[in-house]
Amino acid sequence: MKPKVLLTHDLFPEAIELIQKEADIEFCTSGRPPQKSEIITKIKNKQGLLCLLVDQIDKEIIDAASRLKVIANCAVGYNNIDVEYARSKGIYVTNTPGVLTDTTADLTWALILAVARRLPEADRFSREGQFTGWQLDLLLGQEVTGKQLGIVGMGRIGRAVALRAQGFQMKIVYSDPCPLSSEQERKYQAHRVSLEELLRTSDFVTLHLPLNAQTHHLISSRELSLMKKEAILINVSRGPIVDEKALAEALEKREIWGAGLDVYEREPQIEAKLKQLNNVVLLPHIGSASRETRLKMALTAAKNLIQGIQGKKPANAV
Ligand code: DGY
Repeated sequence: MKPKVLLTHDLFPEAIELIQKEADIEFCTSGRPPQKSEIITKIKNKQGLLCLLVDQIDKEIIDAASRLKVIANCAVGYNNIDVEYARSKGIYVTNTPGVLTDTTADLTWALILAVARRLPEADRFSREGQFTGWQLDLLLGQEVTGKQLGIVGMGRIGRAVALRAQGFQMKIVYSDPCPLSSEQERKYQAHRVSLEELLRTSDFVTLHLPLNAQTHHLISSRELSLMKKEAILINVSRGPIVDEKALAEALEKREIWGAGLDVYEREPQIEAKLKQLNNVVLLPHIGSASRETRLKMALTAAKNLIQGIQGKKPANAV
């Protein structure tokens, strides 16, 4: 008899086929994301769980899963899972690192350029028939080339963002508790500074950190007040790293020039004030959303799940 696994959501057919060779699959059907009560009921006889970042896998669910060997998250971030508790029960938790690095760095750059050059506003302007001729001062934005980029969190994605910044001849500073080696600093042309110095001196500040107790509201009113008036804040990591109310206020009062967000504090809700402002670009958490990358994420999660149910240490155990 094959081991049984629970999938909180449907996946691409290629990933389903892979899992089906090794396990019997049951799906959650009560919604997207499914109700917690459904996960609790269905997890009882399962050896594996494959979930998305929208599923909160807490103590109650883990306690209901007496046979569970692995929780495979289809995301690189895993703040939606009580990892410590799962580990204490001998359950592997896995993520999908690496496969989404470039895609997320690309989207970071799309946001930097979209905010700096006011692309959504310019698009609306054109569609609304307001383009009546070239004007010297039409929709003026911020120069990107040659400016300073501050990268908060110099992990895989932060480093991929830095590589792309070299094409824009930017000065790159970063803050991270773990310094890069001097060889890496040369490769990424990046210089480590304190968070405070980064905020005070950078023209663009981009966040690439995991969400945890230390990074929750890392950027709030005080930090925003340190930033330059012309600065732009980009967040493609996790929403609660930024105090969204404080950001909306800073943007409204023009204490900073603009922001680009792909993630929110209370997803899928977006702070009402942000939606009224023109100087923020709002995306629906699509950092890794290329066809190729999302398939790779699903396949990576499926492989982690299979390794876990077979009693092997999964390649991407966190
Ligand atoms: C992740 O994998 O953590 C991303 O947020 C998905 O885009």
